[in-house]
Amino acid sequence: MTASNSIYTEQYRPQFHFTPEANWMNDPNGMVYYEGEYHLFYQYYPDSTVWGPMHWGHAISKDLVHWEHMPVAIYPDSLGWIFSGSAVADLKNTSGLGTAENPPLVAIYTYHNDKLAKSGSKTPQSQALAFSTDKGRTWTKYANNPVLESPGIPDFRDPKVFWHNETGKWVMILAVQDRVHLYSSPNLISWAFESEFGKGIGAHGGVWECPDLFPLKVEGSDVSKWVMLVNINPGGPNGGSANQYFTGEFDGKKFTPDETNEKWVDWGRDNYAGVTWSNVPETDGRRLFIGWMSNWDYANVVPTTVWRSATTIPRELSLINQDNSYLLVSKPVKEMEVLRGGTTPVYLASQNISGEKEMALDSITLSQSELIFDFNLEDSSADSLGIVLENNLQEKLVIGYSVSQKQFFVDRRAAGPSEFSKEFAGISKAPYTAGGHLQLRIFVDVASTELFVDGGKLVMTDIVFPSENFTKLSLFAEKGEVKLKSGNITNLNGIWKKK
Ligand code: FRU
Repeated sequence: MTASNSIYTEQYRPQFHFTPEANWMNDPNGMVYYEGEYHLFYQYYPDSTVWGPMHWGHAISKDLVHWEHMPVAIYPDSLGWIFSGSAVADLKNTSGLGTAENPPLVAIYTYHNDKLAKSGSKTPQSQALAFSTDKGRTWTKYANNPVLESPGIPDFRDPKVFWHNETGKWVMILAVQDRVHLYSSPNLISWAFESEFGKGIGAHGGVWECPDLFPLKVEGSDVSKWVMLVNINPGGPNGGSANQYFTGEFDGKKFTPDETNEKWVDWGRDNYAGVTWSNVPETDGRRLFIGWMSNWDYANVVPTTVWRSATTIPRELSLINQDNSYLLVSKPVKEMEVLRGGTTPVYLASQNISGEKEMALDSITLSQSELIFDFNLEDSSADSLGIVLENNLQEKLVIGYSVSQKQFFVDRRAAGPSEFSKEFAGISKAPYTAGGHLQLRIFVDVASTELFVDGGKLVMTDIVFPSENFTKLSLFAEKGEVKLKSGNITNLNGIWKKK
């Protein structure tokens, strides 16, 4: 790694998101909780700031917010590069790779053999294991890798594995071109094909990647549903990479969806390859998610220097029943609140907004802040409303809601340089039917905004590269007035010790 004196202070460096010190990162991998520690692995190329031969980078956190960098966990070898996958705590030592007293952590990843891929082989990808018996500090590859060979389909990757209690087996969900395959295993080593899902179902504008499958209780009921996440690239609702989900039933072998239309985890441009943590204790009970905050449309060319890409903030997923459909809700994890501080929050009293109205920020650093606005739409006449983040160069990011079009939007057309990719500048849009009360909660971190509407019923995550940090915040209402009931602007502390 090329650590420099200015590390974590460079232009565009996120201050409370995870980024590697240096070089290229993409998907989060192998997230597992074990003995008080959250592990985060990630697709990593330690020799360059663009994608290349993949390794698993590694970091550990005790609170999901502050991260300690660890050495590279898994290196490529003669079988291939180390593509995405998952990790589990094999608590019963079913794999025999640890002992009953000291069960192993097992990583299940994809080997991508680039030579085979380039030669046109139909079997460049296979699934393999690595294990750790020292709480994830060091990793040994399983001697008889791979454990699952390709049936002759080139796109055969990104295993997510979990323990299925009812059948007493491990289940693997794997992305296979335009669908997922489900396998089962007693020991993580021998895998049996069970079923497939997805042909002609959901979105198919690109290849399916990085799936996940887990149960979630429907809020306010005793009903539990299974949720399947399937990332897709391209083919997202606003272009490029995105994450879709299905709800349904799963019996350990087969997934049966409630609905076959696509639904999106996040409507922004920059939340890809997100999956959830394994082994979170039942006493905690949360389903914890993190995504890669970029998009393959431009990930390799965004204007950062020392490193490329960040993760999203970690989110808690939940399920609600709305209009006879199950809606996946994403909230920032409550641990994010530990970052509030540094200066007194600004409280905005009830007021009417018409046109554009700048808000006094006192000593808040807007480029590192949490914004919460509660609007009363019943007493409002505006056609659209929202916020503008602006810098001294008049570069502007606009986040708003069109009442008449029932649509949220994030407009980064005038938010700073975008010549690095013609795919970058644009407006992301998301359908949303607001009620009388509308809440916007926004995390701003130098080069990104994450919008959570009404407690996470709609999420939009978008990166942005203003030439200078945003320092000015305005609220706006067009063609009428909007009633702001209250607002809070809170400074967030950074998570890195600057070097
Ligand atoms: C998703 C993905 C995965 C693959 C990895 C390679 O972003 O394309 O399907 O395993 O990235 O880095």
